[in-house]
Amino acid sequence: MMSLAWPLFRITEQAALAAWPQTGCGDKNKIDGLAVTAMRQSLNEVAMRGKIVIGEGEIDHAPMLYIGEEVGTGTGPSVDIAVDPIEGTRMVAMGQNNALSVMALAPQGRLLHAPDMYMRKLVVNRQAKGAINLALSLEENLRNIAAALNKPLTSLRMATLDKPRHQAVIQQAARLGVKVFALPDGDVAASVLTCQQHHPFDVMYAIGGAPEGVISACAVKALDGDMQAELIDFCQAKGETAEHRLIANDELRRCKQMGVAVNRVYTLDELVGSQDILFSATGVTGGDLLHGVQKTENGVSTQTLLIGGIDRTCNIIDSLHCW
Ligand code: FBP
Repeated sequence: MMSLAWPLFRITEQAALAAWPQTGCGDKNKIDGLAVTAMRQSLNEVAMRGKIVIGEGEIDHAPMLYIGEEVGTGTGPSVDIAVDPIEGTRMVAMGQNNALSVMALAPQGRLLHAPDMYMRKLVVNRQAKGAINLALSLEENLRNIAAALNKPLTSLRMATLDKPRHQAVIQQAARLGVKVFALPDGDVAASVLTCQQHHPFDVMYAIGGAPEGVISACAVKALDGDMQAELIDFCQAKGETAEHRLIANDELRRCKQMGVAVNRVYTLDELVGSQDILFSATGVTGGDLLHGVQKTENGVSTQTLLIGGIDRTCNIIDSLHCW
């Protein structure tokens, strides 16, 4: 796996570089398409037997990087791959901060196979490892995390996403005195920031995408943090309507096919069953985690975070791409 570290960070770089010129264009699909094409092309140049397990969707909906697609040259280590060519397509389309190109690798069979549906996620860093339990209420979790960190609730910092479905959660945390940081989008960056050494947040709680959840779990595992997650019925996240019920039923069918369960708490080890993981994220638009792509005199610069689970290293790679 370690031999794949160098090619890996070049892949998220390429995807970020492909999407970045369209920042602010307003077209999410165009941005995603450019990043997907670049990521797939780079993946196919790497000496590995790779299989996409978290990708752009089912084979009949996604022509590239679909779940089950085999990538790489067909020689080398067998790995499962989780990709999000652009985490935050809306942010790139609207010229907003915090968008990343991100992917993670793990040995074959070690990543949870989850459809693209909602997932409830709770992340803490190594100091609060073992203090979380999604079967308990958010309030109990916040109290337990604060106790593990030996700080009052009024000093606890919680990241979440600024979405209507989190309104009650945000009010509840604020009532307890917890400092809430509600980000417009991007729970992968929020999860990584929670687990980093100089972390701006003590806990990340959000209902976001399951693919983003599995990718985040790779980083959390490598950074020695803790995470629990639960797949959520679409109606639970968006409200019960006839249209939402159809979507939810389709998701339940896919969960059955993939052998995963809704409303069951998955531990970090169940989300990622190996320490031998690699995680790479390149900033597309600048944010709290990474600088975005920037123009330089002769070309552009990128910044990438490469995390290795075995050697427990975080590399911040500043690259100059000249032409
Ligand atoms: P995209 O790449 O799909 O734009 O994801 C951005 C994101 O904020 C994720 O970080 C998060 O998991 C998900 O969207 C939340 O979904 P929704 O946009 O439906 O609230």
